[in-house]
Amino acid sequence: MAAPPQDLRDVLEEALGRFAVPELTRSVQSIIAQYREGFDRAAPVLGSETAVAAYAAYRMPATYAAVRTALNHVAALAPGFAPETHVDVGGGTGSAVWAASDVWPTLRQVSVLEQSPSAIGFGKRLAKRSPTAAVREARWQQVVIDRAVPKPPADLVTMSYALGELSPAAQEDVVRSLAKDARVLVIVEPGTPAGHARIIAARDLLIELGAHVVAPCPHDRECSIRGAQDWCHFSVRLNRGALHRQIKDGTLSFEDEKFSYIAVSAERWPRAESRVLRHPQKRKGLVMLRLCTDEGQVADLTVSKRQGETYRAAREVAWGDEWLPREQDGRATTDATR
Ligand SMILES: C[S@@+](CC[C@H](N)C(=O)[O-])C[C@H]1O[C@@H](n2cnc3c(N)ncnc32)[C@H](O)[C@@H]1O
Repeated sequence: MAAPPQDLRDVLEEALGRFAVPELTRSVQSIIAQYREGFDRAAPVLGSETAVAAYAAYRMPATYAAVRTALNHVAALAPGFAPETHVDVGGGTGSAVWAASDVWPTLRQVSVLEQSPSAIGFGKRLAKRSPTAAVREARWQQVVIDRAVPKPPADLVTMSYALGELSPAAQEDVVRSLAKDARVLVIVEPGTPAGHARIIAARDLLIELGAHVVAPCPHDRECSIRGAQDWCHFSVRLNRGALHRQIKDGTLSFEDEKFSYIAVSAERWPRAESRVLRHPQKRKGLVMLRLCTDEGQVADLTVSKRQGETYRAAREVAWGDEWLPREQDGRATTDATR
């Protein structure tokens, strides 16, 4: 669970209080239509105060949760990584800044690069109310990223839900530029086939540039999950607040945010042995896991109750977690599916 912390939910609710619900609802519908039907890069989606508030109301908790989950995976694998500097590119209203400072209290100096003055204004107002000094004192810079990202060297560089907003021709150069002078780089995209395709392209390029994959992949070979049938993504569940339900016309009290990501490092950290790629399937006395393995394969593993501790671990593990095979007693069957 990586729900936004109470402090972020409180400041968000307060900041949204001055907007009328019907106005936010209309704006949410317009943003959804623009993302679905394509938008004009010369006219940013978050171009007005209301559009930014609508985005913050219906997307910020979910993008926070996705980034937080990805960063949690990195922190689990790189316990010695204690970043002090962070640059967030295409930062919007600051989800990644809040998420990173929750994962790494060592952060001291944070910069956000963003094109929309309205998003910067809203994000800054939220950040000023953060209990964390690094978030409160973050530097927000209005920058339209073209090909090169004018960022200082940083221990941590993030770009969440923004790569896909750049022209396809600019994306490769931007990824190169993000990797430059970054100890750890994390790129998060929507968990769709198109989002994953951008993550794979970034991953291929970053490996070619000499970066080491930290997460989610337990290997740095070619990704075997390619094509329209399947795509590597993860899911995080979060509660929807009352305002969210109103403006999105939603009735469910929760949502599942699907995301794809890649985290690379200039240093080599021990990687996961394998990672769970789907919700584990539980049957009487059996747990079926779909895994990405350290050999770069997708494999199905069936763990039976007779396997004691391994079975108990399999019952606990969730989509996106590392899977650490504890015993090899021959009763688990691993079938490479690719
Ligand atoms: C979908 S929002 C994501 C915001 C935030 N990173 C998050 O995860 O919630 C995409 C953000 O990227 C920004 N963006 C898109 N193209 C940009 C560009 N060329 N230069 C700077 N910012 C850009 C948008 O203004 C918007 O704030």
